[in-house]
Amino acid sequence: MNTTEIKDKIFWVGAIDWDIRDFHGYSTYKGTTYNAFLVKDEKTALFDTVKKSHINELVHHIKQLVDPTDIDYLIVNHVEMDHSGSLPEIVDLVKPEKIFCSKMGFKAINEHFHPEDWPLEAVENGQTISLGSKTVTFLETRMLHWPDSMFSYIPEDKLLISSDAFGQHLASSERFDDQIDFSVLMEQTSKYYANILTLYSPLIRKLLAKVQDMGLEIDMIAPDHGVIWRSHINDVIQAYADWSQNKGKRKALVIYDTMWQSTEKMAKAITAGIDSTGVSVKLINLAHAHRSDVMTDVLNAKAVVLGCATLNNGMLPRMAGFLMYMRGLKPTNKIGAAFGSFGWSGEAVKLMNRSMEDMKFDIIEPGLRFKYVPGHSDLKECVEMGKRIGQAVIEQTEE
Ligand code: FEO
Repeated sequence: MNTTEIKDKIFWVGAIDWDIRDFHGYSTYKGTTYNAFLVKDEKTALFDTVKKSHINELVHHIKQLVDPTDIDYLIVNHVEMDHSGSLPEIVDLVKPEKIFCSKMGFKAINEHFHPEDWPLEAVENGQTISLGSKTVTFLETRMLHWPDSMFSYIPEDKLLISSDAFGQHLASSERFDDQIDFSVLMEQTSKYYANILTLYSPLIRKLLAKVQDMGLEIDMIAPDHGVIWRSHINDVIQAYADWSQNKGKRKALVIYDTMWQSTEKMAKAITAGIDSTGVSVKLINLAHAHRSDVMTDVLNAKAVVLGCATLNNGMLPRMAGFLMYMRGLKPTNKIGAAFGSFGWSGEAVKLMNRSMEDMKFDIIEPGLRFKYVPGHSDLKECVEMGKRIGQAVIEQTEE
């Protein structure tokens, strides 16, 4: 791969990871990129590095543009290892005059790498440094996605280097949003938000308001993963605004795991009931769907209906694992309901309800349970429950 000049004297020098398929539990079946940016000005600055496994690609790209020892400043926007894993080797190679990071970044760098003599300099929120003809303003973005995260803004180029925000796990030879199919791009952008940022939605709402108040002019957003936004900036900012408000569309999900297809029969009957109300509904068998794809559906759905058979006084392991994953991400403002078959004890419905209570879902049904195999009248009850859920979705959403 070659470097790409994204703005005058500003270059993409990152690495493409075509092979990664799991990112701490998130299925990255389209790979990813670790973006790093080099600014050649009176001072030469490198923004972020890459995962340790990809350092050769980063160094190869830097050498296409400058002698690495000519780099004056390293800027660490985020200390998670996919962006800082090669920092020790880069510091050795570059011998930078300064390494800029946030105050929390200062602590995190020390806690990760235990350096003895790195020229670290913690910057204040809003602090500006000069590179010569260009300046860089640092904006603290704590918890997006780690306490140390910050953005770097170059006003002369209206360029926001946004760390994890606005990223996508999407490997491609293309570097810009208008070179990729828009639906694929937004699908991966929403998957990234759903699986990395959902928990931090209140902070994202505040950040978007802050950026608006500051009147930052932005005509390019360069995240640390995936392609760079230059043509669809308003689209992605609006999408983040919508997702962070957790409104949910007129859509329901019926997510289930089944042992001997009894819970599956119930799931299909509930789905038919929801469908009869005109609400969009998706039936998801956890045996065939990855939890991170299910979370992408949850992001835009208003109702989450969970079904599981009881196994050994608990839930089937796929549902238990999915609930643990979803609870960590804490989607809010959802309608919830549970159902499932059982043989003798039947705890699964109660356990699913408890999980949804923890996430503060609005649980509109006590839960439907049937012993062994549901009969015709039982399935009619499922259809009726589906109709009530569909009606609740209609009442709580805009068309
Ligand atoms: Fe791409 Fe939070 O690291």
